[in-house]
Amino acid sequence: MSTPKQPLSRTFGLRTLAVHAGQAPDITTGATATPIVATSSFAYDDFDAGVRRFNGEQPGFLYSRFANPTVQTFEAKMAALEGAESAVAFSSGSAAVSSTLLGLVSAGDEVIYVGTVYGGTDGILRGLLPRLGIRTIPVPDLASVQAQLSPRTRLIYVETPANPVMGIIDLAEVARIAHEAGILSVADNTFSTPCLTQPLALGIDVVVHSATKYIGGHGDATGGVALGRADLMKTIRSIGMKELGGCMSPHEAFMFIRGLKTLPLRIEAACDNAQQIAAFLHSHPAVERVYYPGLPSHPGHEIARRQMRRFGGILSFEFRGGRAMARLFLDRLQLVTQAVSVGDVDSLACHPASTTHSAVAEAIRLKNGVTEGLVRFSAGIEDPEDLLADVEQALAHASKEV
Ligand SMILES: Cc1ncc(COP(=O)(O)O)c(C=O)c1O
Repeated sequence: MSTPKQPLSRTFGLRTLAVHAGQAPDITTGATATPIVATSSFAYDDFDAGVRRFNGEQPGFLYSRFANPTVQTFEAKMAALEGAESAVAFSSGSAAVSSTLLGLVSAGDEVIYVGTVYGGTDGILRGLLPRLGIRTIPVPDLASVQAQLSPRTRLIYVETPANPVMGIIDLAEVARIAHEAGILSVADNTFSTPCLTQPLALGIDVVVHSATKYIGGHGDATGGVALGRADLMKTIRSIGMKELGGCMSPHEAFMFIRGLKTLPLRIEAACDNAQQIAAFLHSHPAVERVYYPGLPSHPGHEIARRQMRRFGGILSFEFRGGRAMARLFLDRLQLVTQAVSVGDVDSLACHPASTTHSAVAEAIRLKNGVTEGLVRFSAGIEDPEDLLADVEQALAHASKEV
């Protein structure tokens, strides 16, 4: 068998990295696909080898909760795509977010978070962290951060585009503020993926993802990942794996490795579809407003042009007819599935106020634009004309019934 290939450098294109980075044919069998190493522990040769491995003198795997070869391949591929020194894979995006935050902040610290975030992340920031003595401060925009900085501020957390109204945050500016204050910045890059935005290259310290979305891309695996400097990842791995135990299973890692190979292609198709649907809805009389960073009317359009290669596959829109119209529209869709995830090859649509964001207090929800008329739409990779036809027919029927 040939010697293992060297890790690919970031000078390769994203499509090449997505296919090749982090992996080589299996050294023992020649298998081209990454083997699923389904084992909970790894044998060592003798007593002394065990001691050396446990005290870190000898490299090697010990226990799959700490590290696993299949999971490590996924981590290496993700690190290459995000341009990160290191990555840590988790059992879900929420495990990646909570372990990152619990790894980087302690009781007495303060965390500032900007704009809207995923409902589960909102729960961690409003509920879990304050219970542990960590003050969390929501601010509506970047201009409000400076006034909230204190000697106790440890971290700024952002999500961009933000779930569900596609709020755009200037990542280079987040990094500048954080570095000037000597604190860390964390960005959830789930909606953009490294194909559209690379937050680390803009100065962000840690990137988190729900791999459940575009990274897997087929709606059949749940996972998450954190990426950044090796020292930060060491801390996050130690808390997230050794203590909280939210490790990714090797079976899921295999699914994500496979998913990543087509990520750059899937993203292009999803962006094409989303852009087309956003343009159609933007001029429809039943629609009050469309939230899509690719529309010049979006307040974050100019920043999105600077930091996103394209504008993504997800949009939200608000019906003038409120919840009744949203309900009729969603129930009339035929090709598009009603479901709460995003980033799948299948187009998905949901009503955030009663699903993903139902646990967020109503006043906060409304302030963040999550009204009863809001629908979130994740464009899949179907033919654009078929997708548009489905949206058009659902709108036509719903408009007649409302
Ligand atoms: C932006 C974002 N971050 C994190 C999460 C949590 O990911 P998971 O569902 O994989 O735990 C989600 C889930 O929808 C999300 O949309």
